[in-house]
Amino acid sequence: MTVQRLELVNYRSYSHIQLTFDAQLNVFLGKNGAGKTNLAEAIHFLSLARSFRTSDDQDLLQKGQPFAKVKAVIDLQGRKQTLEIVITPQGKKILLNQKPVKKLSELSKVIHVLFFEPRDVMLFDDLPKVRRKFLDTHISKHQEGYLQQLSQYEALLNERNLLLKSAQPNRQHLTVLTKQLIEASYPIVVARHSYIENINKVISKITSVVKGSPIDIKLQYVPYVNPKQDFFKEASLLFASKLEDDIRKKTTQLGTQREDFVAIYNQQTIVSYGSQGENRLAAIALKIAPYFLVEDQALRPIIVLDDVLSELDEPTQKRLLQFLQKLQQVFITTTHMLDSPAAIYDIQNSHIQRRA
Ligand SMILES: Nc1ncnc2c1ncn2[C@@H]1O[C@H](COP(=O)(O)OP(=O)(O)O)[C@@H](O)[C@H]1O
Ligand SMILES: [Mg+2]
Repeated sequence: MTVQRLELVNYRSYSHIQLTFDAQLNVFLGKNGAGKTNLAEAIHFLSLARSFRTSDDQDLLQKGQPFAKVKAVIDLQGRKQTLEIVITPQGKKILLNQKPVKKLSELSKVIHVLFFEPRDVMLFDDLPKVRRKFLDTHISKHQEGYLQQLSQYEALLNERNLLLKSAQPNRQHLTVLTKQLIEASYPIVVARHSYIENINKVISKITSVVKGSPIDIKLQYVPYVNPKQDFFKEASLLFASKLEDDIRKKTTQLGTQREDFVAIYNQQTIVSYGSQGENRLAAIALKIAPYFLVEDQALRPIIVLDDVLSELDEPTQKRLLQFLQKLQQVFITTTHMLDSPAAIYDIQNSHIQRRA
């Protein structure tokens, strides 16, 4: 999939722009404050109808304007799709080929964007919930029903925690909820386990190409119970051993809400052993890895890298760019001119000019 045309009206710093894009590498070049991240954000916004920078859509309206519009023509397996999102103070309207979109999952069938922002370079040093979010977001793209499994689990977890907060938790009720919670956790653990295994098939290839020499990085999932064991028995034993503590602490301490994954490099976690450069490289590779997990080439996601290159040394930048050139469509923002064949868009004060 590729974005062929993009139109923004009253979107953040942009009053009105219309751009056409090539497949492959597109570079947005401009000083700080020029409008690069706003543009990158708009491309990502198309895929979720949600910004990665704000949970309030109203922030996206240009100051003082009554509406904002993001419109794109997307090439999907040779068929053109028109996607239009209009934001007003009353809410937002999403039109796909002029027809209203009712479920956001319809969007992800048309456009899928992998987005990398500067703080993502510290992914392995970030909070576990950030890594869980990465996992859950990507699994839900691959596996229909996963989001529903997650929300079922969360509902049970909330119920159990509420019960634990009561003065005298009913033990029988607790036993029933615990059993239900374990059952609800099983498909989540299985899905996370298999997704991490899939990522492991590609991540070392990416890090090696970008590093310029073999670098073996593996993710290690830390499930609360190994899904390969007798899951229900093991989980029940664990929950039983924690029961009194749960009651004392008035919260559930076990389960998928506490899980995490680490990156292993030279038999140690990359956070404790790897250099800053290796940590960055691993984080970038992890973010790009889902691209290769989409089997149908024509459906592979669009990659947007916002201000990532400045975090890397020059030879690594070069190899990363060479690597990205071979992917379907990539957008990069940068403050410095890159030595790479790419379509260059100069941005100044939210005005954009494509270089001839
Ligand atoms: N809703 C908005 N209305 C008008 N201007 C905005 C809005 N949101 C952000 N801006 C402005 O957009 C400018 C460019 O921001 P940004 O895209 O982050 O620049 P950069 O090129 O450094 O990534 C900033 O100066 C910011 O004040
Ligand atoms: Mg920026």
